[in-house]
Order: sequence, then C-alpha cells, then structure tokens
Amino acid sequence: MSYRTTRRQVLSSAIVASVSSARLTVDCAQAAEEPLSGAFSRNNLYFGSAVRIEEVVRNQDFRNLLLHECDYFTPEVALKWAAVERSPGSFNFTSMDALANFALANRKRLCGHTLLWHKSVPHWATALLFEKDGWRIVQRYFEAAFSRYGHAIDRWDVVNEPIETGYRMDGLRNSIFLQAFGTDYVARALWEARQLAPGAKLMINEFGLEYDLRVEHDRRYHLLKLLERLRQAGVPLDGIGLQAHLDLSKGALSADVLGRFLKEIADLGLFIVISELDVKEHEYILPVEQRDNRVADETRRYLDIAFGQPAVRGLITWGLSDRHSWLQVTQEDVARYPNAWKDGSTPGVNRGLPFDYSLKPKPMYRAIADSVRRLR
Ligand code: XIL
Repeated sequence: MSYRTTRRQVLSSAIVASVSSARLTVDCAQAAEEPLSGAFSRNNLYFGSAVRIEEVVRNQDFRNLLLHECDYFTPEVALKWAAVERSPGSFNFTSMDALANFALANRKRLCGHTLLWHKSVPHWATALLFEKDGWRIVQRYFEAAFSRYGHAIDRWDVVNEPIETGYRMDGLRNSIFLQAFGTDYVARALWEARQLAPGAKLMINEFGLEYDLRVEHDRRYHLLKLLERLRQAGVPLDGIGLQAHLDLSKGALSADVLGRFLKEIADLGLFIVISELDVKEHEYILPVEQRDNRVADETRRYLDIAFGQPAVRGLITWGLSDRHSWLQVTQEDVARYPNAWKDGSTPGVNRGLPFDYSLKPKPMYRAIADSVRRLR
C-alpha cells in the first residue's frame, strides 16, 4: 500500500474531526503553568505517554490532557504482533489506525512499539516460527507494519526485552525467537527493519536496568555486551529504550552506577529514550500524601541522573493517569499488612504516574517538571 493511500485512509476517520477541535479545559492543565512538552522541548527533549486509544475515545478530559502535556505517544498495545495479526496474514489495524489518526491530526509523534516481543507472539505463530521458512512470517508482520506506518512513525522498538540473566552465558533471553532463529535474530530483525524503513531510528527496548541489585547489574552487563557486538558488526541500531519501571521495593538508586551505565551506552554512539517510566509503590499503608511524595522523590532521583546524560532524548511515561496504569496493587502487597484495611477501605490503585485517578496532577508531575527545568 502506498504512503499516500495509507495516510489519507488514516486521516479520513471520524476521530480526526473530533480531536482536532479539542479545547483544553482540564483543571490539571490549568494547575500547571506550562505543559511538560513545552518545558521538555525548550531543552531539546520530548515528553510523551503510552496510550490506549480506547481510553482517549471514552474520556474527553483525558484526551485533552494528553494533547496538552505530550508531544509523543507510544501505543500501549495496538501495534504488538498478537494484537494486529490474530490469524495468519490477516491484519487488523483498527486500533492502531485510530491512535495514528489522533497523533497525526494533532501533530504528535509516534513510537513504533513494539515488533519482536516474546510476550506478544500470536498463538498460531508459535509452531510456524520453527518451520524451514519461519522467518517469512516475521517478515510479513514487519512489512505490514512498516508499509502502513513507515511515514507516520519515526522511531521503532524493533526488539523488546532481549535480555534475561541466569540462563545463558551471553545473557540473551531464551525466547521463542532465539529458539527458532538462533542468537542472530536480533541483528536479523534490525536489518529487516532497516531495509523497510531506511530513515527510521531503530531501537532495542529493555527493562530492569535501574537499581543497584545483582540481577540488574548482570542485566546492564549483558545488554552492554549485546550492544557492543551489534555495533562491531555494523548492525543498524540507533538508540536504546530504557523502560524505567521504577520500584520502591528495590532499594536506592545509585547515581554512580546508573550514570556510568548511561555513559557506556552513549559512548557506543547510541541515543537513549526513557521509554516506559512509572513507579511501583511498596508501602501502601502510608497516608496518600506520603505515598505520593515517595513516588515523586524516586522519579526526581532517577530523572536527575538520567537527564545528566546528554544522549537522553526524551521521556515517555507508561500512561499519564493512575486510572489507566498497568501496575496493580497485588494480593501480596495487601497481605504484607494483615491488620490493615479491616474497615472495608482499600489501598486504592497504585499511584505511580503523574496524574491521579481523577486526572489531578500529583507530586510526581512536579518532579518531572522540576527535573527538566533544572537543566536550563
Ligand atoms: C504492557 C501493557 O501496559 C499492558 O496493558 C499489556 O497487557 C501488556 O503489556 N514492557 C513493555 C510494554 O515493553 O509493552 C508492556 O506493556 C509493559 C512492560
């Protein structure tokens, strides 16, 4: 399908008319003197959020908030393989088209999240990948994604979460892709993407790299080794997404450790995006103000270190509001306090995003704004 056709099709849906006339009336926008996107762009950075278009359509205030604060969107689910190719060769891009409409009509940028992820392989593909011509089905998905969105998306997470420690000497995850195609699959996917999108920025996205823990130390080590190998072999890789799912149970962040890691990535000539920031709380028993301050403090500590590295280009949060967060308060979280919430109250939702359940800005919002303003 040609770019012209695709773009016209994408722009022609009804959502365009409704979103482009959106008025910014949300109280949270009024509470903030300047949107995050403004403060970020003055520092040559971008700010954005993961989005599910279904939430946008359902809630006009949320839609306006996203448009006000962000200049980048990452599809939280809509582009993943299992979401778009439910049966072999039959693609359903309805949800991704709607998000692309929303982004393009409002001059926002889009991240191509994510192509190869072991957690999003369609069921029908698991056996086919091992057949003689198994790579062909990977190619077909790549071709479908790049031909439809190649001109709307400038940055792609080609491989998501390739590292897993404790199993193999090279630290590569023993994923279905590795089993089917060997350790070469990461390079192969990047070459494939480069052929289909010569001008796009191609990335690897990874999690669990922030804390001063043995397992995270090992993950950093193996990711850097992978990046070195890819660079030495001349594989087309432009940047690294660091998910940054922060976690208040994991101890203190170390400026030395994290700063050195970011520098090592930059020294390989790669740019960095903080690609999925949010904070998993731990002590749900505390008063809400304290919970929110802890989340904000952790965010501030992390971003002060991250923004000290000039190779960092932008920050994407994994959702804007606690209402839509993928992070849950688990049964184990509740079980840590056997005597709490006996009166029928609850710990509520995890409060690890910049806006609360009713779209009010929280201290985390201020922490993000401050950390970028401190750069000037
Ligand atoms: C998550 C979404 O937030 C969930 O809604 C979905 O059910 C599973 O995927 N790392 C990633 C993201 O790279 O794509 C994941 O998103 C969260 C972890």
